Amino acid sequence: MTRPPSTKQLRNWDRRYLWHPFTQMQEWEQEDPLIIERGKGSYLIDTEGKKYLDGTSSIWVNLHGHRHPILNRALKRQLDKIAHSTFLGLSNPPAIELARELIRIAPNGLTRVFYSDNGSTAVEIALKMAVQYWQQRHPDAGRKNTFLHLKMAYHGDTIGAVSVGNIALFHSRFKPLLFPTLAAEPPYCYRCPLKLAYPSCKIACIDPIEQILKRRHRELAGFIIEPLMQAAAGMIPQPAGYLNRVRELCTKYNVLLITDEVATGFGRTGKMFACEHERITPDLMAISKGLTGGYMPLAATLTTEEIYQGFLGTYDEFKTFFHGHSFTGNPLGCALALANLHIFKSEKTLVRLQPKIKAMTRLLEPFQHLPHVGDIRQQGFMVGIELVQDKQTKKPYPLEERVGHKVTMEAQRRGLLLRPIGSVLMLIPPLSTSLSELKRMVEILHTSIATVTQLPKSGAGS
Ligand SMILES: Cc1ncc(COP(=O)(O)O)c(C=O)c1O
Repeated sequence: MTRPPSTKQLRNWDRRYLWHPFTQMQEWEQEDPLIIERGKGSYLIDTEGKKYLDGTSSIWVNLHGHRHPILNRALKRQLDKIAHSTFLGLSNPPAIELARELIRIAPNGLTRVFYSDNGSTAVEIALKMAVQYWQQRHPDAGRKNTFLHLKMAYHGDTIGAVSVGNIALFHSRFKPLLFPTLAAEPPYCYRCPLKLAYPSCKIACIDPIEQILKRRHRELAGFIIEPLMQAAAGMIPQPAGYLNRVRELCTKYNVLLITDEVATGFGRTGKMFACEHERITPDLMAISKGLTGGYMPLAATLTTEEIYQGFLGTYDEFKTFFHGHSFTGNPLGCALALANLHIFKSEKTLVRLQPKIKAMTRLLEPFQHLPHVGDIRQQGFMVGIELVQDKQTKKPYPLEERVGHKVTMEAQRRGLLLRPIGSVLMLIPPLSTSLSELKRMVEILHTSIATVTQLPKSGAGS
């Protein structure tokens, strides 16, 4: 047997052959990349045996910890049957059973499941379904071929998803490729665009949204929103009642509500889906990330019978939804997703999560005394801590200063892996994280922020 390559060799090959996502490769090539070889529970272990707490749930996907025996077993069992067969013209048992389970747990009224591979494709499918639905079901409904979304929205990196996204740093270069959309101010309470405060504002930021819907609903196929928390915007939570109002307005103005639960779904906010907090049912819902417990790429777009019916007809009416991917309904992913949902039941994941959410709130309290912590935002097990240069004026750190990155590097040295968005530190632990692991994560984060932000500028973590 040939010996596996050494860490040094792997690092050299990584720098020589790879191009990493959201990464300035010129810098990467100067560094020694951390190479994760194994995982166990809330820990990631590198090729040199060093353990790190997984503070991002491997970019928001892992729910029950790494190498969970039930998930491992489900994958191996399915592998002994078949890894993949096409979903075009065929079906398979795990995909069928999973669809049934998803409809059982989804907000009431969602009745159909369309599979794909990742969050971006789940969003693309929702957008395409919405446009085609209006064309076929209500040809007299006007030219309903664009979308309303919030500013700072993030719905993925494919062109349709970028079109309804609004993060200048990521998206502005691709403007020539994007379709036109309408964007509304998000309820960013820390920097309220209306200079009001919740709850006395009575969610006044919803009024401009109603104005847009009133004037432009004839053009709007849908309103796409990350329910409860705009995650990649830097964890911008929506105040209680906001989503409910959005639902009411979409119904009133005959615009489909698309909720993107890619980040918020599967317990992240403390309930199975964020929509449940406001007891609403969207017309379309995109899910991915946690769907397989964070093991494999799988996504789904769920919709209502009303929308599904809009696609029915004889073949020669050509109402078919002409969309599909090579790995649609992949049996390995679906078997994992079924096991994931089984764990939610057998381990009472959501019940056991509640005290940990409360503990997280308590553990985060001391952060408010740090001189450069501007805002602490939490929804369930999703946390964003916004660092600011000046706490009084809320003056942001210049992006070039990379304060979030410096804190992340400091935390990594101390055994916690994070991924910031600009100056917002994000903590998104696996739902299975124990109380003591959670305490350790928060402790490291606190020390790392204090170390980096209180050092004289030239020495800050670099
Ligand atoms: C809300 C939301 N939608 C869509 C996506 C895109 O998912 P994916 O990276 O799987 O394409 C993400 C990814 O972070 C997300 O947070």
